[in-house]
Amino acid sequence: MNEIFEIEGGKKLSGEIKVSGSKNSALAILPACLLTDEPCIIKNIPLLTDVLVMIEILKNLGAEVEWLDKKTIKIQAKNINSNADIVLVKKIRASILIAGPILARNGELKIAKPGGCHIGARSLDAHFEGFADLGIKLILSEKNSETYHLKASNKIKPNIVYLNEFSVTATENLMMLMARIDGKSEIHLAAAEPHIQELGEFLKAMGAEVEGLGTHTIIIKGKKHLKGVEHTIWPDYIEAGTFFSLAASTKSDLKISNVLVNHLEMVFRNLKKMGVCYKIKNNSVFIEGKNSSLKSAKIQTLPYPGFPTDLQAIFSVMATQAKGESLIFDTLFEGRFRYVDELNQMGARIFLCDPHRILVSGPTPLYGAKIKSFDLRAGATVIIAALAAKGKSQIFGIEEVDRGYEKIEKRLQNIGARIKRIVVE
Ligand code: EPZ
Repeated sequence: MNEIFEIEGGKKLSGEIKVSGSKNSALAILPACLLTDEPCIIKNIPLLTDVLVMIEILKNLGAEVEWLDKKTIKIQAKNINSNADIVLVKKIRASILIAGPILARNGELKIAKPGGCHIGARSLDAHFEGFADLGIKLILSEKNSETYHLKASNKIKPNIVYLNEFSVTATENLMMLMARIDGKSEIHLAAAEPHIQELGEFLKAMGAEVEGLGTHTIIIKGKKHLKGVEHTIWPDYIEAGTFFSLAASTKSDLKISNVLVNHLEMVFRNLKKMGVCYKIKNNSVFIEGKNSSLKSAKIQTLPYPGFPTDLQAIFSVMATQAKGESLIFDTLFEGRFRYVDELNQMGARIFLCDPHRILVSGPTPLYGAKIKSFDLRAGATVIIAALAAKGKSQIFGIEEVDRGYEKIEKRLQNIGARIKRIVVE
């Protein structure tokens, strides 16, 4: 039995949509609770399938988990084992984030190769090279084994690590491990995304000293014992950017609330470049889609504070409605354009130049079609396109969307979208 979204597009939306807690923050903060044997309380948990899988993985490792209310969880990892459940780990890419905490506590870990979106090779070299600098070796038991076996050669020591790229989860893994190592460690070429900054604040609350958050050099003075803390997950800046594109692409006036605007500088600059009219008031953003005449632009993704790759697909829908030729250049991923065929089926005119670049000609009217969501952000993209299109669309593969957008159809219905989730054989 499968679920699909059925959408009747072409209708203007209106009203307010509130941003939920950040998926990528929760996927780092939850495993960080393993760094202490004291209880942690995490609030504003986004109820996403990826987050619920992460919680299952933590329980499977031996953490005690208790839901205190719909979005608040209490986690206490008195003892944890080092063998993560293969089936669960293969469900999400973020499962690799249990490595730092488990290595910090047990000095050894066996973990299956993580799963997640098929958007590129996504090598884990940055993680393993960083671990090696801290005294933890990857034991290559057999050539192409399905599991990684990591083991501390002897005492894990503080060190200076240079990442081979600005990897988000590698930075997060190393921050968590270093937070439990007595002495001063450094990460150079660290990623700086908002969820990295939030993890750093969490580790500081636990008792580690962390400097350089928001920059590409992070200095951590760790210690053996860290405290349990209470934390509220920050709003999701990628979800905010998704709703900005939704408003502009459907020519709707929408209020997007609960936005951490200081994390979205390059997103606002690209909105302005594309002719989107908007106003910011405190932590709300008013997108005036009706008054916006969209124009083409060059959109290039970069490590934070650059324009986020997770909004690359989502902004391409605006480009289909913009006057002129837009170049969209994803400098990070080489497999993140699988949505292009779906949009072209709806009437878009997108040319795939190479694995990192597309050319979008606009404006082109979009028409409803049967389309598929190949990964989580591509799923949001085709939903926006279907809402902007004339006529009816059916969207398949919506389990991908549920990984990153909480109860999305209900929240869209609340702003006037004609979308419903139906079960098909
Ligand atoms: C994290 O993935 C996120 N996942 C991804 O979000 C996000 O797309 C990605 O960071 C980039 O922001 C979580 O946080 C759970 P990477 P991660 O190691 O850590 C290349 C979503 O939609 N790259 O930062 O696995 C690198 O080779 C998901 O929420 C460079 O080329 O990603 C890899 O192919 C999908 N040069 C890709 O970018 C660099 O300097 C991402 O690498 C840095 C990265």
